[in-house]
Amino acid sequence: MRTVIQNGLVINSSDELRADVLIEDDKVVALAVTGSELASSWTANADKVIDATGKYVLPGGVDAHTHMEMPFGGTVAADTFETGTRAAAWGGTTTIVDFAIQQKGSSLREGLDAWHAKAESQCAIDYAFHMIVSDVNDQSLKEMDTLVGEGVTSFKLFMAYPGVLYSDDGQILRAMQRAGDNGGLIMMHAENGIAIDVLAAQALERGQTDPKYHGVVRRELLESEATHRAIQLARVAGSPLYIVHLSASQALDEVAGARNMGLNVFAETCPQYLYLSTEDLAKPGFEGSKYVCSTPLRPMEHQAQLWKGLRTNDLSVVSTDHCPFCFNDQKVLGIGDFTKIPNGLPGVENRMDLLHQGVVDGHISRRRWVEIACATPARMFGLYGRKGVLAPGADADVVIYDPKAEQVLSAETHHMAVDYSCYEGKRITGKVETVLSRGRVLIEGNAYHGRKGDGAYVPRETCQYLT
Ligand code: URP
Ligand code: ZN
Ligand code: ZN
Repeated sequence: MRTVIQNGLVINSSDELRADVLIEDDKVVALAVTGSELASSWTANADKVIDATGKYVLPGGVDAHTHMEMPFGGTVAADTFETGTRAAAWGGTTTIVDFAIQQKGSSLREGLDAWHAKAESQCAIDYAFHMIVSDVNDQSLKEMDTLVGEGVTSFKLFMAYPGVLYSDDGQILRAMQRAGDNGGLIMMHAENGIAIDVLAAQALERGQTDPKYHGVVRRELLESEATHRAIQLARVAGSPLYIVHLSASQALDEVAGARNMGLNVFAETCPQYLYLSTEDLAKPGFEGSKYVCSTPLRPMEHQAQLWKGLRTNDLSVVSTDHCPFCFNDQKVLGIGDFTKIPNGLPGVENRMDLLHQGVVDGHISRRRWVEIACATPARMFGLYGRKGVLAPGADADVVIYDPKAEQVLSAETHHMAVDYSCYEGKRITGKVETVLSRGRVLIEGNAYHGRKGDGAYVPRETCQYLT
């Protein structure tokens, strides 16, 4: 099967080029300047020619932080691997890295097997796994080595959620030491969960039960303190560190300080922290529950700092932390007690568009858009070359993006299995037009042409910034 994508502007993180793209079966095999003799020669014996005049041609998006079907707070995230990956494809994301979970008292292997079983034959796009380590002990430390060998090369630890996913400093240090030895990357949920639980109990005693108190008790200082502590522990252990879902500018200062010292400290933020704020959490009635996630949304003034961090590379990745819970039967579990609201927001479908809006609004360049949404997440998590770039030899995961199309984000039109949109009514300039995953057309002509099971499991190499 030979496919040619003609007349578009190819945007990689490194450069932009008016080029045609030749795909054979599942791989990109060549790029040639549009109108050149070589490019023109491809059309005659192509099976499919896609005209991308006036459009961008991008590597498919890589969302390095999703939680399909994640059990949380007595319920389960609403998107299955089937619905969530299909929605991702609609939004121009062609690879996700989801989090398998080790339950306390179980092994990493049992957790990973369970996630493989959930995802197998279900996904629209390619997928990989990180491992959440919630029970650091001699056995799970050994298993970390095995998992790195199998392509699960990153491990998330939690300084939050005591009694559930939480690890104490000693456990964190041991896991970091192991990652320092086996090449794994430690991903940290950096919030002081012990202190947060005290403040939450005190708030409830005062009768402060509304969703906005979720943001009040999860203080910015408790994010920056945990970020600082995680960095110091990583220094002691001699391991690299990746801070997930960073939302507070003070935490960003900690990351920037570490990076200025030359440490292998990286961080991601998420679209919700760039566009939403504590004002959303404080919406009247129980509406604010739609915006309950951890780390929490912050006051509006943090947004400019996060955009700046994205420009300076102190924030190098934007992931979604997609973890959707329906308003009507899941978020309502926390009516009368904000601590019982399941934590997480939907967003896997919206990331590429919201970041393109950042280009339109002048926060970042087009190439930086591709860098933070495709190339760097691929490189950070050992997928680059295959994913995150349009170059000969890469998987033919391609997005044809119309930078001029106008759209309005809404739960009425999105494809995520959740009954609300965090961005209801938001106008966006730019829209995904066509999506190919390993050469197969998934989205074209505003219709979905894929099938569940199209997506394959992708074992990962170790972080490509460290080799
Ligand atoms: O609120 C969030 N972020 N839910 C998902 C779990 C996590 O901590 O990433
Ligand atoms: Zn987290
Ligand atoms: Zn998460």
